[in-house]
Amino acid sequence: MERDEGRGRVAVVTGGAGGIGQATAQVLAERGWRVVIADIDAQACQDAAAAIGARAAPFDVTDEAATRTAFAEIEADVGPIEALFANAGLIQPGGRPEDSPLAEFDRIMAVNLRGVYVSCVCAGALMVRRGRGGIVITGSVTATRSAPLHAYAPSKAAVVHMAACLAAEWGRAGVRVNAVSPGYVATPPILANIESGKRDLRLIVGGSALGRMVESAEVGRTVAFLLSDDASAITGINLPVDAGWLAGSHLTTYGGVREASGA
Ligand SMILES: NC(=O)c1ccc[n+]([C@@H]2O[C@H](COP(=O)([O-])OP(=O)(O)OC[C@H]3O[C@@H](n4cnc5c(N)ncnc54)[C@H](O)[C@@H]3O)[C@@H](O)[C@H]2O)c1
Repeated sequence: MERDEGRGRVAVVTGGAGGIGQATAQVLAERGWRVVIADIDAQACQDAAAAIGARAAPFDVTDEAATRTAFAEIEADVGPIEALFANAGLIQPGGRPEDSPLAEFDRIMAVNLRGVYVSCVCAGALMVRRGRGGIVITGSVTATRSAPLHAYAPSKAAVVHMAACLAAEWGRAGVRVNAVSPGYVATPPILANIESGKRDLRLIVGGSALGRMVESAEVGRTVAFLLSDDASAITGINLPVDAGWLAGSHLTTYGGVREASGA
């Protein structure tokens, strides 16, 4: 075991069957957390859990009753939930708002905003009762920068703000709540979009100070830090994990981020 930050405590990762959630579940397991992978995709959930010796909890985060039941079962079977990574989310195709069906807006908001709220409140209520716990919510750099994703980006702005609201509410009860905001992460859906020509890798990395995309495990290690006792005085923040995209992307008006001198 790399480090024993978790000390056998229970951490639930929603959207844990793929991408960032799966990588984070693995980091948390390596650091001594007893991990529960929650995901709407039951088969992928079982497979991801089996791969790291975690427990699988297939449920839909938009379903309050199912979430409450799943958390109660986890507490009964595995132990008190001490950490939650509220990460399940949908990305959006990115059409013009006037051409996009309202149903798409509702679907994105249901998962990315309401689903995150439901997960946080169901787990937070248990943590508050015990007087300890940590929650990390997945935001996005689109929470603070405009994007042609007219439901996705506002949903991410809302959950970043939610982290601050819940942090202020539950701090005196010993529960910390933070957000991480990934930039462009090399997950299968994004890599597929690059492969198919829908997205241009040069434009994506061109705005990044570090000149590259983010790896899922880099988000995972940041989440593990925020959930660990090393972050015991950190609550209510939004921590970008973006390879310097927020710092570098504005430099397009100056001709882009410069290559290192001497390179
Ligand atoms: N990939 C990126 O570059 C990037 C950047 C910023 C933020 N994010 C955010 O990171 C999070 C994870 O995204 P990812 O890129 O790993 O995508 P992903 O599609 O690989 O993972 C999302 C997971 O959430 C699950 N899920 C979807 N709806 C659900 C529901 N209703 N209930 C339970 N589980 C559900 C999916 O089955 C999937 O396993 C999302 O919130 C996304 O918005 C991703």
